[in-house]
Order: sequence, then structure tokens, then C-alpha cells
Amino acid sequence: MNREKIIIIDFGSQFTQLIARKVRELGAYSEIINFTKIKKLNKNQFIKGIILSGGPQTVTDKKTSKLDNKILNLKVPILGICYGHQILSKKLGGKVKTSKKREFGRAFLKSILKSPITKNFFITKKTSVWMSHQDIVSVIPKDFKRIASSTNSKFAIISNEIKKYYGIQFHPEVSHTKNGKILIKNFLFNICKIKRTWNAKQQKEILISNIKKKVQNHKVICALSGGVDSSVVALLLKKAIKNNLICIFINTGLLRKNEEKEVINTFKRKFKIKFIYVDASNIFLKKLKKISDPEIKRKIIGKLFIHLFEKYAKKIKNVKFLAQGTLYPDLIESKTVTGSPSSKIKSHHNVGGLPRRMKLNLIEPLKDLFKDEVRKLGIQLSLSKDILYRHPFPGPGLAIRIPGEVTEQKIKILQDADSIFINELKRTNYYSKIWQAYAALLPVKTVGVMGDSRTYEYICLLRAITSEDGMTADFFNFDKNFLQKISNKIINSVKGINRVVYDITSKPPSTIELE
Ligand code: XMP
Repeated sequence: MNREKIIIIDFGSQFTQLIARKVRELGAYSEIINFTKIKKLNKNQFIKGIILSGGPQTVTDKKTSKLDNKILNLKVPILGICYGHQILSKKLGGKVKTSKKREFGRAFLKSILKSPITKNFFITKKTSVWMSHQDIVSVIPKDFKRIASSTNSKFAIISNEIKKYYGIQFHPEVSHTKNGKILIKNFLFNICKIKRTWNAKQQKEILISNIKKKVQNHKVICALSGGVDSSVVALLLKKAIKNNLICIFINTGLLRKNEEKEVINTFKRKFKIKFIYVDASNIFLKKLKKISDPEIKRKIIGKLFIHLFEKYAKKIKNVKFLAQGTLYPDLIESKTVTGSPSSKIKSHHNVGGLPRRMKLNLIEPLKDLFKDEVRKLGIQLSLSKDILYRHPFPGPGLAIRIPGEVTEQKIKILQDADSIFINELKRTNYYSKIWQAYAALLPVKTVGVMGDSRTYEYICLLRAITSEDGMTADFFNFDKNFLQKISNKIINSVKGINRVVYDITSKPPSTIELE
């Protein structure tokens, strides 16, 4: 594409997308290419600079990847990170060896010489950075200087200021490196001199144009849940292929209060998207009857969802693609660093099994993006703040917030209590400080007293957590009066609940959901 860009060469690091994200965040356009594609780069591609990612290989291995000469012929600035630093050093005549002293985690970096790459990076002479390496550059190439060192990496930052080649042993792209973003910013704007032209509007246009190219005149179906990710995908597709997009929304009956009405209003009425609404609440309830095992519940819901989606999708003729709102963290979380599947705690409900079963091609326009980037895109697509900033909601819905058997009566009680809690969080601005909050209905009845009578009703559990990514979480520390007020409000308005408790466990050892 004819626009100024930074090329990120991927050597297989789990952080490559983080580098791209930082570059985007700073307002520069970037493209990631696999290291085997370096040969295809040429001077007519408006390349302003190159970043070499980290990676699991070792430069000391004879069979390791070689850095193609083509990269030097481009005569643009290069920044090598970790493995990228080592392969660049080796290529230019330096030496790399496996060190006896590994560096994993936090390390302290000492400034040795001034350089444009470290402008404003060291506030004092020492700063904290995040390392993850065993190999080190032991001899630097001719014409390079040492800019900074850590205890175990003498050459933690090196540079050749004439050629504008930089090598750094730590990871500036991860948040644990203090001021890491400043270092990347220096490389982009002071060294590569790329213009700040990248923003969510441009990103939207590129994504739409890519969808158009890929889909052409074919039809696409999309499972719409009303959550941020599937909503943004649906709106991008609507812009790209108009009425060739058909959304299917399955009401499992396990949604939050009035959720199905809101989804229909937004997508059918406001955005005029072709929309198939399937009210399957009775079918789900019937299948869940007398089932109380959490894993069996999850499996029943997941299977039924796929079955119904397939059934309704088959009624649409000539569908070639299935669109999904997969985000980048979904892809990294589904495998470990070595690529092996992580151990299974819960059977997550998603539509992952669909494309294979239905022999459809997948479109995942958000697969390189992070949640906050998707939200920015959503703003460009006129998605309401209510949807954009909504807390995550699990596929199996309220079923996993009603431990034990799920009944229509329990769902109704829970929907009412949850809506009181959430509305009050929104009214008091707590909502935006919390990563996820919900009410659950515990399968025990306890004695209470209301007026002069004895009651025997359910316990409502409230959960509110802070988190960065849902992998770990902490309970939110509410003001006591707030909790008291919510408890009163729920008990006074929801028949069926006479006791409210607040969950103060973190994850781990608990999980965010109850099942
Ligand atoms: P846990 O309970 O595993 O939840 O700590 C972590 C995050 O994942 C959500 N969650 C799900 N999301 N399908 C989803 O789409 C599922 O089956 C599912 N189970 C849990 C949960 O709400 C939290 O945000």
C-alpha cells in the first residue's frame, strides 16, 4: 500500500503484536511480515523503518534463521529487539553467546552514553526494564557504541548513529518496561521520521476495504451477540458489503434483562442490518431442565447454540463466509508460548466449532487488535457508549450465574436483581471503574424476616472485579454504604431474595464466574 510505514519483522515472538499495537497507539502505520518474506521488501514501498521482533530461536544455533541482506539494502533505520538485537548484531559482525546468567523479569538499566533512541527515556541514570533472554551479545559490531547496560547484559542498548541501527536486549513493548513507549516513540519520529497519520478512522477504512476485497459479491453470516466485538464486526461488514451481510441473533433466554430488545433495536432498527431473530429461550430451558452439573450445562448450551445457528444459517442460500469477532488476545490465550494448548478449566462457549462444521471461510477483521482498539473503532462506527463500554458477558449467560438447576422463575429473579445492581453502578459512576460486575442467584434458601413474617428465600451474590484481561482479578472495594443500599434495594424490589452477599475472592483462587 502506498503509505509511509514501519515494517515489523516477526521472528515468532509472543510480543510481536504488542510492538504493532504500540506503533499504532503512537500514530504510525505498520505492517507485520514473517521473517521469511524479507526478500519481498523493496525501496518503492514507502518503508520508513524496520523493527525486528524477539523470538524463540537462538542465534548460536547453526541452523538458525539468517537475516536477509535485502534488509540492509533498503537503507532505512532498524531497531532490533531481543532476538532481533542478537540477529542484527551477528549479521553486522558482532558475536552472540549463551550466557550462564539468564535475565527473566525486571532488570535495571544504566545509561552509558547519550543517544536519540534514549531521549527522555532515562529520568535518572537508572531505569527499570523487562528482560526475557538467555543469549547475549558479547561483542558488538564495528562502528557500534554501547548506550546502556544491565547487570547481565553489557550491551543492553547499542547503536550505530550514522546508519541508524539500534539493538536493545529488553522488551520496550511490554508495559513492565518503564518508559518503553518513549523509546519506541523516539525510534518512530526522531529516527525514522515517519508522519503521525494513523488513527482509528484510517484503520476502519483499511479494514472495510480488506473485507470488500476478500468477500466480493458473496454472502456472509455473523452470529451477533450484542457484545462489543461481534457488534463492531457486524458494523464493519455492513459498511463493506451492505445487504450481503446477514446476522443471526439467538436469544437463549439466558440474557440480561431487556437485552434482546436492545439488540433488536440497535441492529435491526438503527443500523438496518439484515437480521434473523431466533427466540430459542424455551428450547434452552427445556434442555437445561434438571441439569445442575456446571460442565454439562456449558456443553448443552454450546451444542444447542451451534445446532440452532447452523439450522438457521442453512436457510440462507449461497453463504460463503462466517464472520467472527475474534480479538488478538483470544488467539494468544488459546495457546501457550510453546503452542501447546493450556489446561482446561472450563469449556468456554464460543462459536469456534462452526466454521469447520459448516465448511465456511472465516473472516476475522479484529484478529490483530486489542479490546481498546476495537472500542475506538466502534466509536468511528457510531456504536453507542452503552454497548462499547459494556462489561464482558459469558456465552452461557445467566445459566452459569445460577448454580444448580436453571428455571424460568430463577432467571426472572436474577435478571431483576442484576439490573438493579448494574443500573446503580452506572448511576454512581462505579461502572466504568469496574472490569466486570454481575449478580448471581445461589441455590440455597435461607430464613429472613420481613414485616412480622418469616421468609424463606434465595441468596443473591454480588460480584464486582477489577482486572486487565480477565486472566487474574481482584474484588472491587465498595464503600460499605453503597453495598448496604444495593442490598436494601434488591430485597425491597425483588420477590424471591431475602439475603444479599458480596464476593470478596480474587482470581485465582476463584474464577470470575461461579461455574
Ligand atoms: P472465568 O470465570 O473463567 O471468566 O474467570 C473469565 C472471563 O471469561 C468470561 N467467560 C466466558 N466468556 N464464553 C465466553 O464468551 C464462556 O463460556 C465464558 N465463561 C467465562 C467471564 O465472564 C469472564 O469475563
